[in-house]
Amino acid sequence: MFKTILQFTLIFLIVSIVVAFNNSDNHFSKYKESKPNAMPKTVSEALVQIGADKPNHYIEKVDADSARMGEEIVKYGNLLDGSNKRISKYFVCTDCHNIQLESADPADESPEAVLNYGMKNDVPFLPASTFYGMYNKEHWYNDDYFKKYGDLVKPTRDTLYNAIQLCATQCSQGRSMDHWEVRAILHYYKSLELKISDLKFDEAELLEFSKLLSRDKKAASKMLKSKYTQVNHAHFGSSEVPVIEGYEPSAENGKYIFNKGCLHCHDKETGITNFAMSDDKLSLNFLHRKKNKYNNLAVPHITRYGTYAMSGRKQYMPMYSFEKMSKKQMLDLLYYIEVGG
Ligand code: HEC
Ligand code: HEC
Repeated sequence: MFKTILQFTLIFLIVSIVVAFNNSDNHFSKYKESKPNAMPKTVSEALVQIGADKPNHYIEKVDADSARMGEEIVKYGNLLDGSNKRISKYFVCTDCHNIQLESADPADESPEAVLNYGMKNDVPFLPASTFYGMYNKEHWYNDDYFKKYGDLVKPTRDTLYNAIQLCATQCSQGRSMDHWEVRAILHYYKSLELKISDLKFDEAELLEFSKLLSRDKKAASKMLKSKYTQVNHAHFGSSEVPVIEGYEPSAENGKYIFNKGCLHCHDKETGITNFAMSDDKLSLNFLHRKKNKYNNLAVPHITRYGTYAMSGRKQYMPMYSFEKMSKKQMLDLLYYIEVGG
């Protein structure tokens, strides 16, 4: 009995001390928070403040000239003054990658979130990941990309520099890039890094975060990392038409996927492929008739497998992983192909 009383007193004492301590801490933190530059502007700045290891592509400050050169290479394939050779004869990076946010919340880059945001903001629906926030990822060519590129992905898993180089030579079927060209793209990526203001913190969380930044770095890091995704996952599907019990496909979603996805490359204006299509009955009927074939003309097949570059015909179609087009979205697309136009 006496022992229990003693235990209770002890616990009571500890609790009181902790509470008292916390209060005085709050008092101090008000003072700390009023200091300028307490809140970092970007995710990478916040990570440095937290004391995280800097990634090997770390850049302290964007060099505006390098970033501009990077942007020109990404959008046009070479510098606008013509002083370097095009990276690829067949593609520019933005045929496959966006350069803007793709979802309303960087913590949710699910295909559903991407579709919702894309429909509202007229963003292309592409098979590769956006460059916005690429700087803040921690691993590249994840999961099933090993199946496609084998050992080539190993040096890219931890090194953004190598991921850029792999994509220049493999995905975009181009030449390998000079060191300064990759650096320029890294500076451009740095200019597209995630800002704290892109993240979905409500007011209370932001206050909490600024407190944690000075008091509990581990907790601050955990909170920060819950607000954006650190990798682009990738899992490959097969040519099967998905079956989802009770799902009613949306022609509206399908129309968006067809127009802002497929036609991003297949519109005859783009000149990316020899296989031109348009948003009309003729193209849609053609695709609809082929849909159950096990070949490149069947939409579920071509979308999940893509095509491979061959000698003499280097333009190939990148596949959409489940992370870039969900099963439901595949059904939406097939439904639109059936009823649209
Ligand atoms: C024909 C399509 C295509 C073109 C062109 C292309 N890429 Fe890619 N890229 C892909 C695909 C597909 C992936 C793998 C999936 C992904 O992005 O998550 C990829 C991956 C990447 C990655 C790694 C992304 C990650 O999170 O794993 C980087 C970095 C990259 N590309 C940079 C570039 C750059 C720079 C260029 C232009 C010089 C370029 N890409 C051109 C299709 C393309
Ligand atoms: C990043 C560009 C790109 C996107 C996006 C894209 N394609 Fe393709 N697609 C290609 C390329 C390149 C080829 C190879 C055709 C060629 O040789 O010109 C191709 C080939 C095809 C073919 C086969 C043509 C043949 O003769 O073998 C079909 C069918 C097709 N795509 C349908 C689609 C559909 C449906 C979508 C949307 C889900 C889509 N594509 C999205 C670039 C793209």
